[in-house]
Amino acid sequence: MTRTDHRADRIAGIGTSIFTEITALAVKHEAVNLGQGFPDFPAPDFVKQAAARHIRDDHNQYAASAGVPRLRAALAEDWRRLCPGARAVDPTTEITVGSGATEMLHDAVLATVNPGDEVIVFEPAYDAYGPDVAMAGGVVRTVPLEPPDWRFDPDRLAAAFGPRARALILNTPHNPTGKVFSRAELEVIADLCRRRDVLVISDEVYGEILFDGAAHVPIATLPEMADRTITIGSMGKTFSVTGWKVGWTIASPALTAAVRAVHQFVTFTNSAPFQEALADVLPAAADNGYYGQLRADYARRRELLARVLRGAGLEPLPIGGAYFLLTDVGQLGYANDADFCRRLVTEIGVAAIPTSVFYEHPEAAPAVARFCFAKRDETILAAAPRLAALRASLNV
Ligand SMILES: Cc1ncc(COP(=O)(O)O)c(C=O)c1O
Repeated sequence: MTRTDHRADRIAGIGTSIFTEITALAVKHEAVNLGQGFPDFPAPDFVKQAAARHIRDDHNQYAASAGVPRLRAALAEDWRRLCPGARAVDPTTEITVGSGATEMLHDAVLATVNPGDEVIVFEPAYDAYGPDVAMAGGVVRTVPLEPPDWRFDPDRLAAAFGPRARALILNTPHNPTGKVFSRAELEVIADLCRRRDVLVISDEVYGEILFDGAAHVPIATLPEMADRTITIGSMGKTFSVTGWKVGWTIASPALTAAVRAVHQFVTFTNSAPFQEALADVLPAAADNGYYGQLRADYARRRELLARVLRGAGLEPLPIGGAYFLLTDVGQLGYANDADFCRRLVTEIGVAAIPTSVFYEHPEAAPAVARFCFAKRDETILAAAPRLAALRASLNV
């Protein structure tokens, strides 16, 4: 008997990510790439030197599956810096290191979601959440964040907590909107999770990239949330080394044991020298003013991109964190952001991401494009004449 389709049901509906598609178009059309969210400027010297040192010192064999102990100790210490006064984290039983936030999200979902369980996700949502839930056999329940300030309606959130609600995936600061959830909003979420016995998987990879005094509050630090939260971090965004792929979870010993059960058979461990490097980088960054510099630097890049977008007739929406600016493409007469972004990359030579791809039903999403400003000044400025040409061609 010949089998006609060897593919598993669990991957039905998982297509090529928009980042792959837009990046391929950007390369083909030699576009200025403001699409995918990674820095095109050099990583900091003290970060690169730490990695070089550990490769030279021969930290080149398998690291401990849960993460090198020195790094877990440094992450526990860093948690104290991030949330002074919060409960201390035990590096032996409450921290697991893996291959970027991407793996840790996957591990966290597989470790906690049973087939048929519902997982509440705010949308627009980072593109990994849906496939992670689907691969666990779970079902996503979306709750909209409404532009321009991306607030959610507490009644709609409460209504999403059905009898099968198992987990809620939170992302703050939020990709793609740049929203930083306020403490009051987190309290609404935490209250529902406590009352309905729902777990929070909190993706906080942009926790250090904040603007205009916005404060990042890890939901795990709210009362009685530490035991029902898996907090996910990554060094990729914070230290401008997205290719290093070092991420981690912080969770109670019981949840950590569950995450480790998956992690040991997904990747078992990840790069030893980069983990060792991060163990040096975290205390150094806390001492050398790195975080303040990072924010000042991104505030400047954000202003530069905002000026370029305004010059093209695209007023950006306000943000509190992360490194993206969003604009309503209706301002240029487009009703559909995917059409806009395709035309932009193929004819104008600038790559951006249509945020409708971050929705379960893209056809009903607002027409908003996302531009990344984790770029050199030259890259951002190179987009200016091209975007101005778009505006001129539209006569708006
Ligand atoms: C919200 C969010 N979560 C997770 C990730 C993945 O992080 P990592 O590169 O550490 O796997 C990204 C990367 O863009 C992201 O934007």
